[in-house]
Amino acid sequence: MTNIAILGFGVVGGGVYEVISRASKSPLNEVNIKYILDLRSFPDHPLGDRVTTDFDKILADESVSVVVETMGGDGVAYKFSLAALKAGKNVVTSNKAVVDKYGKELEAAAKENGVVYLYEASVGGGIPIIAPLNNCFMGDDILRVAGILNGTTNYILTHMQSDGKSLEEALKTAQELGYAEADPHADLAGLDTARKIAILAGIALDKYISYTEIPYIEGIENVTSEDIALAEQLGCVIRLIAVAERVGDKARILVAPHLVGNGSLFHAIREAFNAVSVTGSAVGEVVFYGQGAGSLPTAAAVCGDIERAISGKARAHVRQACDEGFILDGSTGGKFITLANGKKYRYFE
Ligand code: HSE
Repeated sequence: MTNIAILGFGVVGGGVYEVISRASKSPLNEVNIKYILDLRSFPDHPLGDRVTTDFDKILADESVSVVVETMGGDGVAYKFSLAALKAGKNVVTSNKAVVDKYGKELEAAAKENGVVYLYEASVGGGIPIIAPLNNCFMGDDILRVAGILNGTTNYILTHMQSDGKSLEEALKTAQELGYAEADPHADLAGLDTARKIAILAGIALDKYISYTEIPYIEGIENVTSEDIALAEQLGCVIRLIAVAERVGDKARILVAPHLVGNGSLFHAIREAFNAVSVTGSAVGEVVFYGQGAGSLPTAAAVCGDIERAISGKARAHVRQACDEGFILDGSTGGKFITLANGKKYRYFE
């Protein structure tokens, strides 16, 4: 039996409970959720008696070997993660804000204390992308990582096109479905996507990159129904896409709405699905596709990390490259198309 604690019992934390309850194989079916840290109480939940507001109790309990941080935010969530790592507990998270801001420090703390800090669920919901980048692609030079990395905006763009919904109407449903951030501005303005591409690009370039360093971030707030209809006349859809690619000694990184032609796999990405394309110098293009947001898909990624932490399959990873080496550039290259209403969009191919 492995004891774990879940910090934050919201959409993702609740999903982790669901996935663990239905686990059929070891070691996940031997996991005991000993504590749930939340300010709310859940009297009708089967684990209602495990809910606590006392993090120190979790920290002091040597039988807890994995702490699952699904709280969100980058304040308390960071402090608790660092304290847990220093206490020799593995930490698994879906929290991209903490990974973006403190990943370097937390990975170093994990290594120092002989445990792991894992965050597969922080990018692409249920899509396995961080473990493949950290493992399978290590023998190749990654030339480009590009992705539709935000379920909420993809859901909105899909429904603005297919049912003629307004951005606000589609956002409301995305919020009801548990896709959106607590403050959906992070989704709409491209900040959530930026955090995710910063995490992926950092792994690909073997350095730590914060989304605040990305030179160009544009969200979907200015995409109109007219733009979508005019794009459709050209055989295109509009999708919020993040691109990180090597161009000489520069890394071109940006987040922006793009026109996507029907020759691209990204043309078919609808609803809250995400897709990530990784191009290696030897392997060529590899595309990952799956549910990018929502309770169970994200929880499935968290539980994969719990399994890897328990079984010792994950190694503590600290990126090696020095902070120099790549100039981050949002302007280089790229093809643009002008719509009939005069609005110019980047073209994704
Ligand atoms: N708000 C995020 C999204 C949640 O819509 O993709 C998953 O990271």
